[in-house]
Amino acid sequence: MKILVTGGAGFIGSHTVVELQQAGMDAVVVDNLCNASEKSLQRVEAITGKKVPFYKTDILDREGLERIFSTEKIDAVIHFAGLKAVGESVQKPWEYYQNNITGTLTLVDVMRKHGVKNIIFSSSATVYGNPAFIPITEECPKGQCTNPYGWTKSMLEQILTDIQKADPEWNVILLRYFNPIGAHKSGTIGENPNGIPNNLMPYITQVAVGKLKELGVFGNDYSTPDGTGVRDYIHVLDLAAGHVKALKMIEEKAGLKIYNLGTGVGYSVLDMVKNFEDATGVKIPYVIRDRRPGDIDACYADASLAKEELGWEAQYGIKEMCADSWRWQKNNPNGYED
Ligand code: NAD
Ligand code: WQD
Repeated sequence: MKILVTGGAGFIGSHTVVELQQAGMDAVVVDNLCNASEKSLQRVEAITGKKVPFYKTDILDREGLERIFSTEKIDAVIHFAGLKAVGESVQKPWEYYQNNITGTLTLVDVMRKHGVKNIIFSSSATVYGNPAFIPITEECPKGQCTNPYGWTKSMLEQILTDIQKADPEWNVILLRYFNPIGAHKSGTIGENPNGIPNNLMPYITQVAVGKLKELGVFGNDYSTPDGTGVRDYIHVLDLAAGHVKALKMIEEKAGLKIYNLGTGVGYSVLDMVKNFEDATGVKIPYVIRDRRPGDIDACYADASLAKEELGWEAQYGIKEMCADSWRWQKNNPNGYED
């Protein structure tokens, strides 16, 4: 199978390209590098010993996409390309809707013109909003998103669902990721946020490496066991493996499928600090700050559907996630700039 990986130079994309190549599939990457470095793909090549054909193209560039689909015989698309910074999306809603929604509409249009009707889409637990119940099953109703980024995911799920309904030749798998962390065991590829990280784990690793002074814990009065926010952290290698399983399902005809990809276990912010310290031996100073607007108390998955139907289950525990995030940060204090 030849897979076009949009956003394949990014965090989850680069790890998925490794997994695809190691599973004997051909991966072709399209990325405009707006939030990534081409070095990630050179490092993927060093890990797998295989070339990664790369097109530096924007998914909004219809002619550019046409050229790729005319040149490569693509069987399926794994669609990671998108903007993902929650706070920025509140400041720049037009840019987020344009990039994520128009980009996906353009991609899907080019796909159908070339008879490629298989897509795996990176969705997010954010579509559940403040979840009606936890652990969250796929049956949990979608909720009110608190930011334009979340709405792009929710709307794109609906758009892809409607496209599949109208034309059952499509296979659409919507994967709702919980909180991806960790990095490849080599310590050569990982998450590389621009500026000060918004997400918890990269913030912790940057405190650990001395780039940031202390962690601000956003609120300790949530209704959780220790008052800090609880999330379902999932190793990026497990996520990558989930995409390979989803492709196998597409080969056998998937129709429309939706899966949560999480571990099913929730950890609070303070649990994460403790686990990171235990796994790495590095102390993380922290202070309690105000709640961050839009945050919810707790969010973790019931991932049993993915286990039953995809045969996928998370393999890595929290200590390994922390140790692997740390190895990447320690070896590359400035990400791909080193
Ligand atoms: P990332 O920013 O590292 O990867 C996204 C990639 O898409 C980047 O390499 C970027 O350069 C590229 N890109 C963005 N817009 C593009 C465009 N118009 N044309 C071509 N390339 C473009 O992010 P990630 O963490 O690897 O996330 C991958 C996907 O998973 C995203 O769609 C994200 O919304 C989704 N997701 C991420 C998380 C998370 O916490 N990391 C959680 C749930 C869902
Ligand atoms: C985790 C916990 C914070 C930073 C976001 C997106 C979501 C998805 C994953 C893409 C929360 C706390 C954080 C810090 C802290 N992305 N925190 N201090 O908010 O669960 O999810 O990323 O789809 O859409 O919203 O992840 O890592 O930002 O926060 O105390 O400096 O850590 O309050 O409880 P979140 P996160």
